[in-house]
Amino acid sequence: MAAEVHLPVAPTGAPSLTPTGAPSLTPTGAPSLTPEGAILVPPQTRGRASVVKLERAWFIACMSKELRHKPIARTIQGVPLAIFRDARGVPGALVDRCPHRNVPLSLGEVASDGCLQCPYHGWRFTRDGDCAFIPSFTGEPGGKGRRALSYPTIEQQGFVWVYASPMSGGEMPESRPHEFAFADVKGYTTVRQVVQANASMYSTIENALDVPHTAFLHKGLFRSDSRGIEITAKVSRTRDRVEAEYIGEPRPPGLIAKILSPSGGMVTHFDRFLLPSIAQVEYRIGTENHLLVDSVMTPVSDFVTKIYAVVSFKMRLPGWLVKPFVKPLALRVFKQDAVILERQTELIRAFGGEQFASTEIDVLGRHIWRLLRQHERGDAGSEEADEVKLVV
Ligand code: FES
Ligand SMILES: [Fe+2]
Repeated sequence: MAAEVHLPVAPTGAPSLTPTGAPSLTPTGAPSLTPEGAILVPPQTRGRASVVKLERAWFIACMSKELRHKPIARTIQGVPLAIFRDARGVPGALVDRCPHRNVPLSLGEVASDGCLQCPYHGWRFTRDGDCAFIPSFTGEPGGKGRRALSYPTIEQQGFVWVYASPMSGGEMPESRPHEFAFADVKGYTTVRQVVQANASMYSTIENALDVPHTAFLHKGLFRSDSRGIEITAKVSRTRDRVEAEYIGEPRPPGLIAKILSPSGGMVTHFDRFLLPSIAQVEYRIGTENHLLVDSVMTPVSDFVTKIYAVVSFKMRLPGWLVKPFVKPLALRVFKQDAVILERQTELIRAFGGEQFASTEIDVLGRHIWRLLRQHERGDAGSEEADEVKLVV
């Protein structure tokens, strides 16, 4: 039984969490609150936040349909990128800074040869970042220092993925991007949705896989007031993932569960975190109803996370009947999460860092952080199994 939750360790190179203008923790000249002259002094908070920078990881840059003939600008882990399609339609990702005079390449256009052309002096770059053409210049364009930094890309299942290779460059990925197991599979209906959370990737992943808040923040949608049913979460962590299986829960009374399974039944429920950034929620209710929500997080910057959600479901009711309810309901749930995540982030920054207290029913949080840190450091990782009791 994990009774202790380890607080995150400060990442090296973590951003300063006391931005200019943030309230001082020991204000001078604070107003006197009592006749004795006691002053209101906020509690000390350690200046750190659960922020990671991951290398050797695939992240989604955009949906395939967002990338047409014009280049687009995207930011991943604080690095601005110009994403474009070459003459064959294959996506490329270059650091969004022309090596000539540092103008954003994403403001340019794709030339007839499939190169990305800078809008300022017209230098052209291939998908690999080679400078292929310089207008008016009679020499060899591909000279030293004229390369644009490039990242490997893969387009699959409706998304363009970019590989966060180390900045020294040139390293080809050994892994492949995550595959959405039931997306567009026969018998399943799939909904894709992109949303943004103004919070760190860690907080966003934990939120996506956190059970106790569902009865409270999303009251009535999944779960309602506790029915007093004790269930068990079986937790298993391996080197690249952690999974919690919730055992013994009858179908909850919330609206979403009713849509999923009008006839009730027992719930089989898994929450998973898969490195580098995938939060997966899987429900089977009764024998005929199956729902898999894959949320792939892209860390835009330390406190902004994009969520590419792929929801695939199969149920007794026909998909066309259920689909119109799925998007608005999912967006309503997400909005409630987004508001709370943004407030949490604002407060963490205002206090100059996190100060979390946890119990063992915060089932996956510490495992998610451990896996993220392990990937960031390049550690091999370890395995752990655990059981947690909670009442729903
Ligand atoms: S700044 Fe890009 S070509 Fe000059
Ligand atoms: Fe939520």
